[in-house]
Amino acid sequence: MYKNNNLSVDNQWIKDTIAAMTLDEKIGLVHGNALFKNKGVDRLGIEPLIMSDGPMSVRFDFKDDEWFPIDRDMCYVSWLPSGAALAATWNTELANKSGQVLGSEALARGKHVILAPGINIHRTPLCGRNFEYMSEDPYLTGKIATSVIKGVQSNDVAVCVKHFALNNQEKYRMTIDAKIEDRALYEIYLPAFKEALTEGNAYSLMCSYNKINGTYASENHRLLTEILRDEWNYDGVVISDWGAVHSTVPSALAGCDLEMSVTYNFDDYFFAKPLKEAVLNGEVPESVIDEKVARILLLQKRIKLYEGTRKRGEYSTTKHHQLLLEAAGESIVLLKNDRNILPLDTKKCPKIAVIGDVAKRPLACGGGSSEATPLFEITPLMGINMVTGSHCIVKYAPGYYVDNEEHVTGDVDWQATSLDACDDEDSVTDTDAVTADGTLNSPAKGNSKGIINSKAKKEALLNEAINLAKECDVVIYVGGLNRAYDTEGFDRTSYDLPYNQYEVIDALLKVKPDMVISILSGSAINLSPFNDKASAILWNSMAGMQGGLALAQTIFGDINPSGKLPVSFPVQLSDCSAHSTGSYPCDDPNVADDQKTCTYSEGIYVGYRHYITNNVKPLYSFGYGLSYTSFEYSDLNINELNNNEYEVSFKVKNTGDVSGKEVCQLYVTANERTVDSPAIELKGFTKVNLNPGEQKECIITVNKDAFSYYSESSHGFICEPGSYTISIGSSSDKLILRKDINISVND
Ligand code: BGC
Repeated sequence: MYKNNNLSVDNQWIKDTIAAMTLDEKIGLVHGNALFKNKGVDRLGIEPLIMSDGPMSVRFDFKDDEWFPIDRDMCYVSWLPSGAALAATWNTELANKSGQVLGSEALARGKHVILAPGINIHRTPLCGRNFEYMSEDPYLTGKIATSVIKGVQSNDVAVCVKHFALNNQEKYRMTIDAKIEDRALYEIYLPAFKEALTEGNAYSLMCSYNKINGTYASENHRLLTEILRDEWNYDGVVISDWGAVHSTVPSALAGCDLEMSVTYNFDDYFFAKPLKEAVLNGEVPESVIDEKVARILLLQKRIKLYEGTRKRGEYSTTKHHQLLLEAAGESIVLLKNDRNILPLDTKKCPKIAVIGDVAKRPLACGGGSSEATPLFEITPLMGINMVTGSHCIVKYAPGYYVDNEEHVTGDVDWQATSLDACDDEDSVTDTDAVTADGTLNSPAKGNSKGIINSKAKKEALLNEAINLAKECDVVIYVGGLNRAYDTEGFDRTSYDLPYNQYEVIDALLKVKPDMVISILSGSAINLSPFNDKASAILWNSMAGMQGGLALAQTIFGDINPSGKLPVSFPVQLSDCSAHSTGSYPCDDPNVADDQKTCTYSEGIYVGYRHYITNNVKPLYSFGYGLSYTSFEYSDLNINELNNNEYEVSFKVKNTGDVSGKEVCQLYVTANERTVDSPAIELKGFTKVNLNPGEQKECIITVNKDAFSYYSESSHGFICEPGSYTISIGSSSDKLILRKDINISVND
């Protein structure tokens, strides 16, 4: 239960301000009084807290009380690489700089809080919001997220880390009950949040829509008080996801501070009139409200709102765009490059065919609350034109037929009805899905005439693409997902590429076996149908406004790829542990939608922890990515510093003839642990830049945390004495250097 203490925030100004407030004024601060604002207290000079989405940009503004965009011509901001793209850079410095861009732009757009970053774990490749999230691994997610947070907040804007917790699927996201045991909770799903809040010092946190072990996140006392406040000593603001609050007294006492929603009846929100009544009739002590207000005022102090020293931001500057090009460039992952087909040489390919809808598709708009209005967006086709200049003739064909166009660009009004459950009937991914063999899964909604038309269109586009491929020297295929699939509110219904892409790729590979294939997706996606036949494959998640240019620069060698996969790509969906255990998609027909549960029965065996431990070989492993050069690892040394802290050093040499960056990864194996544990776990990484022939020493420090596991019986992390292996490699499936250490201290 809530402890009726004195204010935990020890600041005289905050205490005095609260003492001067009426109950009504306090209540006005703890609920939305506009779609992205609370009320503020004009009389005392307390400003409303101004919030904005989202992870990839400062979203355009809405009217206070209508999902109607305003001032569109002032909203042309920078558009950052997505969370998954930033994670694919494995570059904390770039993540930090990208965060600085977001913070500076939010500041310039008059915001106090930016609703970002999203850091839920990729549990299934089908989660529609994986592109916003970062990785299947808590360590990588924690490091990238913390860097973004520090970057944003260095510009006097608060982040709001989301969605706490276990929002690992969009299907039934409003009500799904995530049933989970403590070890998986503490080892997989909470660590990135803990790091974001404690190391990153995130000033606010968004609680998710779903339930956790039977209780909505917004009223989950264990999550919002016992873990967040008591264990982690968190003193930031807990903001509800928009419409995630379902009760007054339980949510107020559980630790939710600020209720936001998507509807316009602000005075009727649970934390509005009903909360005032609950205070007046003694169900909620006024000190609980004071505590919430104190945290909101503390956030405002932290962003220097009243000190006159708050920084000044800027948006859409050339400086920002340049930095985002760098980040986009490092987010591209080279998966296959037989016979060094890449990089292409403009002198050897005077006529280039660019085929695939993604090549020409702007992706900023749509996809939910991460939609953006960037000043510009360079598509891959534009980028290829920019890079090849007068050397090549570039011709384009869409290749496949996008039959759900209305879902790709998004509808600005979607959020008004977003609290309605997303059921299968409405799923944007149901239309015209195509299976791996290219046959139609389910026909496009509509009559048989629609099907015939769509079949004819597909044939025509395919023939056009084949003819273009024949007439050109090289083909660059640019396909994958779009904002109908990388989207909030829905999960994909299939692991496969949508539309008839496999059919098109297959036909084109027959004409040009060396075709370069570039796939864009926010999650792992099924590359198996063409992987063996293809020679050159690149992957990237949405890489922001400069994504198309970065891709082109990579294909033509101005950028040497250095991204590494932030997730494993299973051969087939049934290999993924959320699926092989039958836990997802939680479709029990005997259970009403709002009662559905999702049991995380795979426990800690998520992503590579499952694939490697259980010998299920993925098509591409976590941490994998090629370069145009090669690297050699040597001289592993491990020095014990003190208190179970180790300094791990090794050398990396660029043995090729172009400069390149390598992500060196450190994994730990517990050899003698008394409980089952993953074969390897990522516990450190560093990215090193090397000229041809250059060698550098890398040092990664690990402490006891790297050797600990969460013990259900002792309700805490334990570091058991015994033998541990430290492995260094270029990927989770390519561990090159290894050494055992013995940990003696029992914890
Ligand atoms: C999303 C949040 C977003 C909020 C405000 C919700 O639908 O889940 O991530 O920040 O809306 O737009």
